[in-house]
Amino acid sequence: MPARKDKVLVIGASGQIGVELTLALRKQYGNNNVVASDLREENPLLKGTGPYVSLDVMNKEMLHVQVIRQNITQIYLLAAILSATGEKNPNLAWHLNMQGLLNVLDIAREEKLHKVYWPSSIAVFGPTSPKVNCPQKTVIEPTTVYGISKYAGEFWCNYYHQRFGVDVRSIRYPGLISYKSAPGGGTTDYAVEIYAEALEQKKYNCFLKEDTYLPMMYMPDAIRATLELMHAPAASISVRTSYNVSGMSFSPKEIAESIQDHIPDFTIQYKPDSRQQIADSWPQSIDDSIAQKDWGWKPQYDLIKMTADMLENLQVKS
Ligand code: NAD
Ligand code: SER
Repeated sequence: MPARKDKVLVIGASGQIGVELTLALRKQYGNNNVVASDLREENPLLKGTGPYVSLDVMNKEMLHVQVIRQNITQIYLLAAILSATGEKNPNLAWHLNMQGLLNVLDIAREEKLHKVYWPSSIAVFGPTSPKVNCPQKTVIEPTTVYGISKYAGEFWCNYYHQRFGVDVRSIRYPGLISYKSAPGGGTTDYAVEIYAEALEQKKYNCFLKEDTYLPMMYMPDAIRATLELMHAPAASISVRTSYNVSGMSFSPKEIAESIQDHIPDFTIQYKPDSRQQIADSWPQSIDDSIAQKDWGWKPQYDLIKMTADMLENLQVKS
């Protein structure tokens, strides 16, 4: 369980995960004990729910000042450039994804923060990794700049833990599906867009081929996994790089069929673009037996349950 005296800083709080994670953390720690921050403006869903500061994670001095001024004891670092956007500007992706993490880890060490959370991704895996039930430890040769930055980041986390005792924890998220805040430029974004398009247009042009299976997870499971990992006793954490976690695995054809169960006249067309190559380099499903063993991870949503929940909530929203 969370310690009430902790004060949490979420960096990248206006993004797809940040909004929901900030709201969940505010429930656990109290609204005023979770400071949301981002380079862009405060997300409307966060407004009035707690403190917000404008912050660039690349500006280490300003970040350090905020950590001291706000008496921060934990940081959740979500600011990053994702896979598809990263391929458009590899230097920027490498710079933000690496330097942002190193700034946070350095400050965590200097200020003796209680905990740091930083997500990795299934993008660490590459074409030479096993496609089905990809294990925690295996051949890892990523071919995107995003995947390279995540894999390097995992080892920086491990290094700061081993060398300086920083309690940094991490999950390799699968593609995340949610309805509250829009996704930020990933290869798995199709599985978010498809629901809104199905409701609005009754058709969707998919940028991946119909049989492209990828590991995916519904946001409520991802938030719960994050909090369960962060609240687990330190002694139970055997992986200090980043944990595999699994939710579900499906293809564009299968998600379309699950939507057709609710909207029978929904149609999908397939026009693969450069993101197909990225998707083809990743595994189709993930073995998360170590997360199950260490901190009891178990997903609650499958494709059928997620589709029903997504459509219901998007309808309420519109
Ligand atoms: P997102 O793009 O939706 O949000 C990232 C946020 O960071 C944005 O609000 C952006 O404005 C902010 N940001 C960018 N540069 C910044 C800077 N210099 N300083 C402060 N804030 C800055 O991303 P997301 O989907 O919420 O992902 C969060 C984390 O989870 C990332 O590390 C990402 O790699 C990881 N992840 C996400 C997924 C997914 O499917 N969404 C899957 C695997 C891993
Ligand atoms: N959803 C992310 C992406 O597609 C995976 O890390 O980039």
